[in-house]
Amino acid sequence: MGRSRTSPGPAEDLLIELDRDAGVALHRQIEASIRADVRAGRLRAGTSLPPTRTLAAGLGVSRGVVVEAYQQLVAEGYLTSRPGGYTQVSASMPPVPADAGPAPPAGPSGPTGPAGPAPPAGPAQRPAARDVPVRVDFGYGRTDVSQFPRAAWLRSVRTVLTTTPNDRLAYLDGRGAPELHQALCDYLNRVRGTSCAPGDVVICNGYAQGISLLIEVLARRGARRIAVEDPSPDDDARMLAARAGLDVVGVPVGRDGVRVDALDRAEADAVVLTPSHQWPTGGVLPAAARARVIGWAKRRRAFVIEDDYDAEYRYDRSPVGAMQGLAPDHVVYCGTASKTLAPGLRLGWLVVPAHLVADVSAAKLLADRGSPVIDQLTFADFLARGEFDRHLRRMRPVYRRRRDALLDALRTHLPDLEPAGVAAGQHVVAWLPPGLDEAAVVAAAARHGVRVHGLAPYRLAGSGPGGLIFGYAVLGERAIAEGVALLATAIREVRGP
Ligand SMILES: Cc1ncc(COP(=O)(O)O)c(C=O)c1O
Repeated sequence: MGRSRTSPGPAEDLLIELDRDAGVALHRQIEASIRADVRAGRLRAGTSLPPTRTLAAGLGVSRGVVVEAYQQLVAEGYLTSRPGGYTQVSASMPPVPADAGPAPPAGPSGPTGPAGPAPPAGPAQRPAARDVPVRVDFGYGRTDVSQFPRAAWLRSVRTVLTTTPNDRLAYLDGRGAPELHQALCDYLNRVRGTSCAPGDVVICNGYAQGISLLIEVLARRGARRIAVEDPSPDDDARMLAARAGLDVVGVPVGRDGVRVDALDRAEADAVVLTPSHQWPTGGVLPAAARARVIGWAKRRRAFVIEDDYDAEYRYDRSPVGAMQGLAPDHVVYCGTASKTLAPGLRLGWLVVPAHLVADVSAAKLLADRGSPVIDQLTFADFLARGEFDRHLRRMRPVYRRRRDALLDALRTHLPDLEPAGVAAGQHVVAWLPPGLDEAAVVAAAARHGVRVHGLAPYRLAGSGPGGLIFGYAVLGERAIAEGVALLATAIREVRGP
């Protein structure tokens, strides 16, 4: 792959945060954003930009607005328009005009049954109730692996196996394959607004290994206390930090993600956050709160560990860039292919502040001598061909339809449940009305053949409002409707006459 012949494929996605209240014309905002990305090196020479129609649809603007922005940037020399082809980032940077303003400020930011056989319970899944067969399983943490892009992946495997010289199959250093570092940087800088150089990337076996390496390194460097969101997963950071002898402190989560005032009081050396879609309650951390978290990290010389696990699936809200782009020296960015391609790939990546890279890659080497190289090279090729963009573009409407089916069914059968965090991801939380006991609902649902989780197991601080977590990614629309109807029967039973 060092000699791979793939040139960058057409992109489908590009992070542009539009501020409709800014009083700045939308085409100017698009221009400024792309110009800033090119200048900062986030968009490399030769990168193909999304077709105008695609970008316009993604941003919710008319195509003419994007055409105008592209034309302006072509005129300025930032972009090159290939007749009949894609608009690309120019090979040479134009001189920076004296009056070039800054980029706009970061804005606030089927099938008739289950889509496939239920996968074996993974770490994020809990056992189903015994005796009653599960008819509809709203277990979360699953992605629809029946949609894995086998043909495109096979093309990349074939390319890798036919072009990779033998010596590339030997041991790697702890960071992984350089081709994947580059391809990920190109992707993340373009789509997630990160500020990433290939030398900052460490490939790992999913987020699970990434967070494990980070906690190990932070503990060895003297960290004593890790803050996590409350509620948050109980099977990774919390468990790993406790095992490493660190204090674990929960920071309450509100409607918009973690409560920064409470973080101030936590006196932690690092905080693990899911800012683009809080797991499990689904809030998106607003721009002002992000800035305050970054301020906190700088003041305390602490780290923000940004688990960006759900960012690729966004339905009806504008994109919000990763926090890493705001403070690359204080944020460790964690990404994974588990939600987008398949959890069984065990492909994850960290973008690590430069001063931590050596420690994290040494920990990775010690853990397993590196992730499988053919998979890394395959993913690099897959990204560089634009197949990852295409796959996501194909899957978004699939998951969106399932999400809509869930919301419709909740509206019809359980109108007093309040769905939250619905604009992104692969699960929805629905808050229970006061007086309806979460554990009783979960148990009654199981008796009716519906597997659904409550929030209680993920809370650090005892009690909180009751809610149910509905994973919908692997369920067909009819199964979703059936599951909610059964759940409504179960809830009627709990409420009594
Ligand atoms: C909050 C969160 N982050 C990340 C992941 C992905 O983990 P991994 O990459 O190890 O599969 C999951 C999996 O369910 C998750 O729930």
